[in-house]
This record gives sequence, C-alpha cells and structure tokens, in this order.
Amino acid sequence: MKIIQSDYIYTPLGYQENLAVAFTDTIKEIATLDTLKSKYPQAEVIETAANSVLYPGFINTHVHLEFSANKTSLKYGSFMPWLDSVIEHREDLVGDCDNTVMMGECEAMMRSGVTTFGAISSFGNELEVCEKAPQRVVFYNELIGSNAQYADMLYGDFMERVKASQSCDKASLIIPAIAIHSPYSVHPIILQKAVNVAKQYKLPLSAHFLESQAEREWLEKGEGELKSFFKKYFNTEVPVTNIQEFMYAFDTYPTHFTHCVQANKVELEYLAQKGHTIAHCPRSNRYLGVGRLPIEILKDLGLKYSVATDGLSSNDSLNILDELRAGLMLHHQAPIEKLAHSFIESITSNAADILGLNNGRIAVGKLADFAVVTLPEVPKREEEIALWTVLHTKEVSQVFVDGEKVL
Ligand code: BEZ
Ligand code: FE2
Repeated sequence: MKIIQSDYIYTPLGYQENLAVAFTDTIKEIATLDTLKSKYPQAEVIETAANSVLYPGFINTHVHLEFSANKTSLKYGSFMPWLDSVIEHREDLVGDCDNTVMMGECEAMMRSGVTTFGAISSFGNELEVCEKAPQRVVFYNELIGSNAQYADMLYGDFMERVKASQSCDKASLIIPAIAIHSPYSVHPIILQKAVNVAKQYKLPLSAHFLESQAEREWLEKGEGELKSFFKKYFNTEVPVTNIQEFMYAFDTYPTHFTHCVQANKVELEYLAQKGHTIAHCPRSNRYLGVGRLPIEILKDLGLKYSVATDGLSSNDSLNILDELRAGLMLHHQAPIEKLAHSFIESITSNAADILGLNNGRIAVGKLADFAVVTLPEVPKREEEIALWTVLHTKEVSQVFVDGEKVL
C-alpha cells in the first residue's frame, strides 16, 4: 500500500484540500493523512512539494507515433498541400522514426502527465515501443484502403495486426483497438467488417472524420482538391462513400471521431444521438488550416470531447499541456476559467469514459494512475486551479501508472 498527499486533489467533486489517497494498483481509500496512516501503518508515504495538485493521470486519446521524426518535412497551412507532402515524405519519415525516437516521445508525453494514450498505428511498427512504454496504450490498429482490388489483402494485414495487439502480455498495459483511417480512404465493405470486429471483441473504435473542407467537398460532390489527388494516385474520380453512409456505418457502436471541424450542426447532433464522441486536436487543426471545432455547442448537444495532440505530422510537441494552452488561444471567445475546467475534464474523466477505461478519476476503485502538478505559488482562488495548472505547467513533478511511480 502507498499513501500520497498533496495540497489539493482533483476529485469528481472538485478540488479538495487536506486529503490523501491510499492505493495499490487501484485507489483504496481517500481520507485525511492521519486517518490513512493509522489505518495502514505499513504503507509507504509519498510526499509532494508545496502547492501540488494530485490529478488522475492525463489521457491523450489520439496520437500517431510513427510520424515522430517530422520537424520540417511536412507542409503546414492548408490540408491538401499537407497531404501531398505526407505522400512525398512518408517513407523517409517512417524510416527515420525508430524505436528510440518513438520511446523519446512516449517519455515526453509522460513528463506532461500522460499516463494513457491512444496510438493510431498504420503498420504495427509501434507495438514493441508501446509494450515497453510506461503508460497504458490503447493500440488503435488502423484500417486504410479505398481500392476494392486490394481491399481483401489490406483487411487481412489489418486483422493480423489486430491479433498481434490482442496477444500482448497483460503487464504491457496494451489495450487492443481499431481505427478507420477516414471516409475517403477506406472502402465501405472492409469498413463494415472492421466495425463488426470492434463490436465482437468490444474494442475501442476511432475514425478521422470531416477534418477538412476538401474532404467534405469530395464526399458531398466528388469535387474539389481531393479529386486530382485521387486521379493522380488511385486513378479514380468517384468517392467510395458519402458523409451519411459513412456515419451510419457506426450507428450501433460508440466511436471516437477525430477532428469533425467541418461537421455541421445536424451531423454533430447525429453523432451525439448515437453516443459517439470527438477527439479535438487544436494545434493540428490550426497548423493544417482546417477550421475550428465549435466546442461551445458540444455540451448542449450532449457530445463528449477529449483534447488530443494528434501526431508530430501535424504538431510541434506531444505535450498535452502545450495542447491545452493552444486550445485556450484557439477558442479565444470562450470564458477562460470555464474552458480550462472543461479541458482538464476532457483529458481525465471524459477521456476515460470515451476509451472505456477505469481511470481518469480520483475515486475509490479506480486505477491508480496519477499526475502531480506543482503550482509555482499558492493559488489564491480555488476556482482558478484548473487555469493555473494549464498555464504554468510545462512538465509535471511526479507520475504513477498502475500504482507504480514512473517519474
Ligand atoms: C486510400 O487508400 O484511398 C488512401 C490512402 C492514403 C491517403 C488517402 C487515400
Ligand atoms: Fe490523426
């Protein structure tokens, strides 16, 4: 048994003072330090610095580790030039991204307090690193391929990767999962098969959806910038699906849709009605010039969102607190304290609910994943702790995963 105490604890009831948490791999009890010490006299007591806040470990629901080598290769500013640059540099970037580079980024995420991340994997190359990483990893095996001719082969390869992630050792903290690349890049037949696999094994399911104006125009009219892309690389001029057909394919299984910046209110309402959720990636959206997700309407629609980093293919770091700070700037019209609270919720309890994990909250019975944030001085008003956490924390001071100290 271990006991950790800090000046504040972020609980489902808000920030609470003068409490401590007793835990093994799960949270056993929350009470005053004296109470816990007398109840568990053998427990190791973990100190935290003054002005520390104990958070449930942060959760980054959407990241692509395989693009971790990108710094100045990919073109930012607008979606299609970026996608063209991905095609041009993909091989070099994936080649340059070895296990050391990827592990470095897992550790960078950890220093920002991330104890769980959702890794989108196109080829399965990241599995070894994700098994060794200190965090829990929702390992999203990605299905891609719009060409019917190659669909069976691509689906076969995808299923091999799914099986490999299902047979990882329990100690690796790998959670197998499925990702659909996007409506324009996955043939509807294999899409439906993959959704059925997710349903059969109850695996987390995710898909990029309505990221850019180009995607919307292609799916709606078979026109726009994606038209010449498909002509050039795939010798086709018609999209394999449309917005409605793609959305309806997920009707019976809650899915985590990434981006949705180009979704209209009717589509967002539909996603909410079916119990789906959104991964919101502020910096990626800004760097690719695709628009702003209107997060201010999501609450009224009952649509849950997480803030996530996406990969270094469209970002400058995988630090989740960098992402939240950028989000505060992107959503400049929103009341800042309320937004900071919503963001903290989005990377803790919301993200855990989205991924179906028993963490993300400091409450008895939850998994013992924690991030300790140390504020530079005493917060003068409790209602501002979320904001000061986001603004002042570049790196957290301690991290625990599954009850073990990893930082
Ligand atoms: C496709 O298979 O259709 C595809 C793959 C990568 C990017 C875009 C489309
Ligand atoms: Fe992504």
